[in-house]
Amino acid sequence: MAPIPDTTLRALAHTLLTQGASYGFGFQDWVRFVSVLLDEALEARPLPQASAGSLPLLGEHVQVRTVLPTDRPLLQAWCTDPRGRYFLSSRSTGSAHSVDELLDDPRSVLGVVTLPSGRPIGLVGYLQVDREQGRAELRKLIGEPSLRGRGLGTEAARLWVGHGIHALGLRKIFLYTLATNSENVRLNQRLGFRVEGVLRDEVVIDDVAHDLLRMGLVVEALTAGR
Ligand SMILES: CC(C)(COP(=O)(O)OP(=O)(O)OC[C@H]1O[C@@H](n2cnc3c(N)ncnc32)[C@H](O)[C@@H]1OP(=O)(O)O)[C@@H](O)C(=O)NCCC(=O)NCCS
Repeated sequence: MAPIPDTTLRALAHTLLTQGASYGFGFQDWVRFVSVLLDEALEARPLPQASAGSLPLLGEHVQVRTVLPTDRPLLQAWCTDPRGRYFLSSRSTGSAHSVDELLDDPRSVLGVVTLPSGRPIGLVGYLQVDREQGRAELRKLIGEPSLRGRGLGTEAARLWVGHGIHALGLRKIFLYTLATNSENVRLNQRLGFRVEGVLRDEVVIDDVAHDLLRMGLVVEALTAGR
C-alpha cells in the first residue's frame, strides 16, 4: 500500500493542533497524546489472520486447541505444581503471574495441549506477542507429571512453533529457561533454538539464585538452514 502523502498528514496534524489548542494542550500534553496515539494505532493492527482459523493443530500423539473458560481450574492446578509454576514466573522478577492474568492479557496467545482422545495434558503459549517486531516469548508445560519424558512436550512445542511462524507471522521466537532445566534446554535445541546468552543469577527461587539461559529461534535462519 502506498504511504499516505505528507500533505494529508500535515492537514490532519493541523486539525488536531487546532482542536488540542481549544482544550488548552501544552507541550507535555502533546507528548502524552502522541504516545497514546501510537499505542492505539499499534493495538488496532490485527494479528496476521489465522490464529483462530488454524487451531486445533493436529499432531500424531498430541493436539493443540484454543483455551476454553472451563480449562481455568485445571490450568491453575498445573501451574501451581512445583515444576509447572515456572510457566507463570516472570523472567525479570522471578515472581509469579496468575493464570487469570496470563489468559486475560491481550498480548498472550495460549493453547491447550490434548491427547487425541481430547484429554487435556498441557499448555503452550506465546507471551508478550510483539506484533510490530514479529517476536514473542515461548512457554510450554506438560501439566501431568506422569506424561513427561514421553516425547509429547517436543511434539506439542514443534506444532506450536509452526503455528507461531505460519499463523502468527513470528520472525523470532525466544524463551528463557533455568540453566539447570536440562530436559527443556535439550528439547529447545531439538527444535532449532540456540543459546543467545546467559543471565547470571537472574532469578531467586526458594532463596536460591539461578542462571537463566536465553534461547532464540530466528525464522530466516531456520528456513535458510543456517
Ligand atoms: C519441559 C517440558 C515441557 C518437556 O516436555 P516433555 O514431554 O517432558 O519432553 P519430551 O518427553 O518431549 O522430551 C524429554 C525427554 O524424553 C525423551 N523421550 C522419552 N520418550 C520419548 C518418546 N517416546 N518419544 C520422543 N522422546 C522421548 C526425549 O528424547 C527427551 O530426552 P532428552 O531430554 O534426554 O533429550 C516438561 O518437562 C515440563 O512441562 N516441565 C515443567 C515446566 C517447564 O519447565 N517448562 C519449560 C519452561 S516454560
